[in-house]
Amino acid sequence: MLKIILVAGARPNFMKLAPLAAAMKRRSADFQSITVHTGQHYDASMSDAFFRDLEMPPADIHLGVGSASHAAQTAAIMQAFEPVVVTEKPDWVIVVGDVNSTLAGALVCAKLGVKVGHVEAGLRSRDRTMPEEINRLLTDQIAELLFTPSADADANLIAEGIPRERIHLVGNIMIDSLLSNLGRARRSTVREDLGLAGKDYAVLTLHRPANVDDGEAFVRILDALEQIAARLPIVFPAHPRTRKRIAELNLAPRIERNRNLRLIEPLGYLDFLQLFSGARVVLTDSGGIQEETTVLEIPCITLREKTERPITVEMGTNTIVGNDPARIVAAASAALDQPASKRQPCVPPLWDGHTADRIVGVMHGLES
Ligand code: UD1
Repeated sequence: MLKIILVAGARPNFMKLAPLAAAMKRRSADFQSITVHTGQHYDASMSDAFFRDLEMPPADIHLGVGSASHAAQTAAIMQAFEPVVVTEKPDWVIVVGDVNSTLAGALVCAKLGVKVGHVEAGLRSRDRTMPEEINRLLTDQIAELLFTPSADADANLIAEGIPRERIHLVGNIMIDSLLSNLGRARRSTVREDLGLAGKDYAVLTLHRPANVDDGEAFVRILDALEQIAARLPIVFPAHPRTRKRIAELNLAPRIERNRNLRLIEPLGYLDFLQLFSGARVVLTDSGGIQEETTVLEIPCITLREKTERPITVEMGTNTIVGNDPARIVAAASAALDQPASKRQPCVPPLWDGHTADRIVGVMHGLES
């Protein structure tokens, strides 16, 4: 029997944790899992909604850390998590993704000599101005087991000197959640509620500091959105930090004036899945949405200069455009003008809904 602590803290972690916790529960003779929520995200729409939608019981342990600067938040998670690891004495701690909670959890274990597994290891944007890139690099150096979503991630890790035997190509854990929840998402009435059922629309998410903290960049993106909104409605579920910036930059009147730019509250997992899966095109600066749109074969325009998920461009539906209005508008026009039959994207290998079982299989194999 292996005792495992599973750590999550921010919105994109929860859909990576849920399939793992479920897979361990299915094998309760081999695994005892304890879930820890750091509290990095705490708004109901950023946290509780995901536990509900993913049918996850509340975390066994909640650290209640909340927002702060990167250093203060990372340190607070470490301080709160250390006594949990000391008390519980797990065989392994599993961290997922690339948020501050991921690095903080891994660092605590490295200092205590507790083995760490990193799910979604090896992704690299090669842009060290992104806090997530630092979190990825350091977590992968600390982790004993590296579970990768795609072969490019294996190559990145090997190039950084990580021993090959620690690396396991298992596929994309987030796609486990996506595929197992598509049916339930179909019952969401979000499209009807927004008056979009059967209509063409785009979906936008935007929260990266490079796009929203930088006021000029935000305005450039808004210029592009207004041009795209002349063709179809754009639904924009806004992250709390984005809302704050809209207020600070006094952009609300400009957004409200445009009836095709529809700023709404952040959506839960199932509503968001139902919404974007019906979109003609998705515009985003998120990491995970590049992958989800690839699997659902929906054109994705990524408002960043680089991606740590190049396979979504090579095999999937993703186009990287940064925040230059001309490039954004050109990519949107190309996506909207291209008949669906001409697109020939494909789903990367092992993004098949069985990644959690493969991870659990690797861990059990190491034990026996
Ligand atoms: C974090 C992750 C990012 C991920 C994103 C998804 C890091 C470094 N970044 O960014 O990789 O794509 O989550 O959402 O870990 N806030 C609230 N309520 C909440 C959470 C946040 O109001 O429940 C506000 C606070 O003002 C906070 C700000 O959003 O200061 C930023 O939150 P934080 O967790 O620091 O980073 P995210 O931008 O959410």
